[in-house]
Amino acid sequence: MRESKSYGPVKESRFPTSLFAIFFGILLLMSGVHVGLIVLVNRMEWHVVIQCIIPMIYWGMVAAALTLFTRRKIRTAYEEPMHKLAEATSHVANGDFSVYVPAFHTQDKWDYLDVMIMDFNKMVEELGSIETLKTDFVSNVSHEMKTPIAIIKNYAELLEAEHITEEQRKEYAESIASAAERLSNLISNILKLNKLENQRIVPEVETYDVCRQLCDCILQFEEAWDEKGIELETEIEDAAMVEADASLLELVWNNLLSNAIKFTEPGGTVAVRQTREESLVKIAVSDTGCGMTGDVMNHIFDKFYQGVTSHSKEGNGLGLALAKRVLELMDGEIQVSSEPGEGSTFLVTLPAAGRSENRDGGNR
Ligand SMILES: Nc1ncnc2c1ncn2[C@@H]1O[C@H](COP(=O)(O)OP(=O)(O)OP(=O)(O)O)[C@@H](O)[C@H]1O
Ligand SMILES: [Mg+2]
Repeated sequence: MRESKSYGPVKESRFPTSLFAIFFGILLLMSGVHVGLIVLVNRMEWHVVIQCIIPMIYWGMVAAALTLFTRRKIRTAYEEPMHKLAEATSHVANGDFSVYVPAFHTQDKWDYLDVMIMDFNKMVEELGSIETLKTDFVSNVSHEMKTPIAIIKNYAELLEAEHITEEQRKEYAESIASAAERLSNLISNILKLNKLENQRIVPEVETYDVCRQLCDCILQFEEAWDEKGIELETEIEDAAMVEADASLLELVWNNLLSNAIKFTEPGGTVAVRQTREESLVKIAVSDTGCGMTGDVMNHIFDKFYQGVTSHSKEGNGLGLALAKRVLELMDGEIQVSSEPGEGSTFLVTLPAAGRSENRDGGNR
């Protein structure tokens, strides 16, 4: 028996040790029959040539029977599994990732070939999901690009018309500019996500005050929440030092704040609360907006997922995927709790830079 990392104890050999006993028993029996035959042919007083031929024929038959038995054993133990595996491999080579080869024994009797087959199934499943992700990604990007490109094309055609008023010209130009901005945001978000996913940029970790950064980000959204008549509540300490890449964390705050404002109706409230618990800094962004169902919550960190269709024109569904990836790189976490119609809370947890630096804060 060998201990497999994923499957527990597995048998090392396909041939049981009882095979020796089987062969030993058969050979003893055959030898007995052989002695019996010799005694018989002696008694019969046949010609000496016949006396020699009869045991040879007998042992020939025994050898043939043993060959058939061993061949059958090898076929069931090795050839059949290998043929099935070869067939499945050729399906995968032709791009069919739906193949599944069942194990040959129940799990308590698994041996190394069953484990190899299970690993093969896992590999094919992984390959299949990578392939799906790739095609999904390409079709999502194409879909997201199509709309702004169509807008730019249409408005550019309208601009070409001779008899348009100055007001219309301005309106068309603005639409083109906003579609171009959307396109540029999409591309820059895809590039950022791609870089982060492949870890091509090692985050530039520095020790800095996340409270100050939060306040700066909130101020940037002042116009947006004023315009919508949203009330903003903050509970942020004077200072809380974290060791992180400030430019990447800024993406997280900007997205959480823009989401909170985007998904909250005029007159609602958005709250940013920052606390510290032992060596952790916690930042909660809550809103009294439309909230999410459990089904939506399960997908919000997926790339290009947008749950609230009425807002799908604003953004591309990449913000939370980016935020999650950034926090993974910073040893942080993001959790969400939400009730449809009641609002949502996104809680970000980050490791604090050092306890001594974190003791001098008071509420703002
Ligand atoms: N505060 C929130 N309230 C309700 N739903 C939310 C909230 N934040 C996120 N969501 C849901 O999660 C989805 C994904 O959010 P995400 O930030 O990834 O994309 P987006 O805001 O639609 O686009 P982008 O961030 O690329 O501009 C949103 O489309 C929305 O359905
Ligand atoms: Mg967003």
